[in-house]
Amino acid sequence: MSYRNKDWSFAELSRKETLWGPHGYHRYPAKFIPHLVRRIIDEFSLPGEVIGDIFLGSGTTGVEAIRTGRQFYGSDINPVACLISRAKCFPIDPSILNETWKDVSRIISQIAPLGRNPLTDKDKEAILSINISYALPEERLQYWFPESQRQALTAILKAILSVPIEQHRIFMLCAFSNILKRCSIWLSGSTKAQKDLKKTLADPVDEFLKQVRDMMKRNKLYWEDLLTNGINPQQAGEQIRILQQDARSLDTETPQVDLLVTSPPYATCYEYSELHQLTQLWFEKFGIISAVEAKQNWIGSKNVSSGTLNKGVFPHTGSESADTTLRELLHLANQRPTKKTDIIREARALHRYFIDMNRAICEMTRIVPTGKQLVLIIGDSRKRDVDIPTTQALCEMSSSAGFALQEKINRKVPGRVLVSTRDRETGKFSSTANSDVEVYPEENVLVFKRV
Ligand SMILES: C[S@@+](CC[C@H](N)C(=O)[O-])C[C@H]1O[C@@H](n2cnc3c(N)ncnc32)[C@H](O)[C@@H]1O
Repeated sequence: MSYRNKDWSFAELSRKETLWGPHGYHRYPAKFIPHLVRRIIDEFSLPGEVIGDIFLGSGTTGVEAIRTGRQFYGSDINPVACLISRAKCFPIDPSILNETWKDVSRIISQIAPLGRNPLTDKDKEAILSINISYALPEERLQYWFPESQRQALTAILKAILSVPIEQHRIFMLCAFSNILKRCSIWLSGSTKAQKDLKKTLADPVDEFLKQVRDMMKRNKLYWEDLLTNGINPQQAGEQIRILQQDARSLDTETPQVDLLVTSPPYATCYEYSELHQLTQLWFEKFGIISAVEAKQNWIGSKNVSSGTLNKGVFPHTGSESADTTLRELLHLANQRPTKKTDIIREARALHRYFIDMNRAICEMTRIVPTGKQLVLIIGDSRKRDVDIPTTQALCEMSSSAGFALQEKINRKVPGRVLVSTRDRETGKFSSTANSDVEVYPEENVLVFKRV
């Protein structure tokens, strides 16, 4: 059957299947369904070719590229994303990892267990004395983690940092990162940073032991899967390159790829720079990763702007459809004086998003040679009841940059995969009963050829 006629919703897949092996190491917002990337890789590339993803996120594309015998190049502006992707993509020899784990778990079992506990009055008092909007990194740690959790987590992190083999250390750091929300006052199930003073906090030692054991089973599955498919897992690491870099200005060293498959951030939906702030705080404190980039460098951020309106009009974004939508929003702002400031602020952030995406698409032309393909996965959204035509805008930008659209496949996103609901008025993510608009009930797989 041609790929055009296949079912692209992947609605029949269970969580167990979509979180198979390393795909289940770490939560990440707007993660790819691995089967979707796998199909794209199978359809549009050959074994041995180089697959790229410059909005790498948690590295889903990398794992599937390696499982299908391709080489992989990936990058993301987020140092936490790069670390998670390194942990996921590089398979580790299970027997050697077992030895490392024996040493680490021996140290960790000496840390006094805390059990699962609600916050004490003293903990709450300490948290409420901190103004998080102005807090320095050390105060932020004190805000999110009561003292007992901080002590246990520090001991665990020190044990991880004593691991001599780099790839094993990265694997354990990824495990550490994924338990942080459960061990903090971060509201369970929330993507956004919200405190919950009624939360029963998890025991860091218990969580870490469980997390690593689960990941070790997953790593073994990955290792065995490669062997079954005739790929030497010992050499798989040589096929992978992961770099932290900005998609709007790729390093000249960035390799050319045979197929670029990537899912850019959606317009002003996630504040990616803040989503991994707990990991960022711990890893920055211990010198494991670099400081986070300024918010305006993260594509899709809110409250950013690309400069001034010129005679009441935004400068050209690189897409007529995007320009029209921005004009519509400005018109709406003028019609609603009480909301004018908010709507203009949102329109500025949206304008910035389109300008940034245009820059990123121009960069893609540098790494996708003539005749090779680019596959973008993107969905539209709504703001203030105005449709944001992201798909159309990216098609127009890609066409001007030198990519010819070959195929546009519309895929329904199964209900259970939708990350949350959105407020119809503001377009913001929300978990309130008023949020009645689903996020991305469908998205598009855009297949381009570089001309
Ligand atoms: C939709 S997510 C990608 C998810 C990924 N496909 C996965 O399976 O995990 C978009 C990614 O774009 C990254 N990003 C945002 N601004 C960026 C920039 N300027 N340069 C590179 N990456 C950026 C975010 O950090 C985020 O990881």
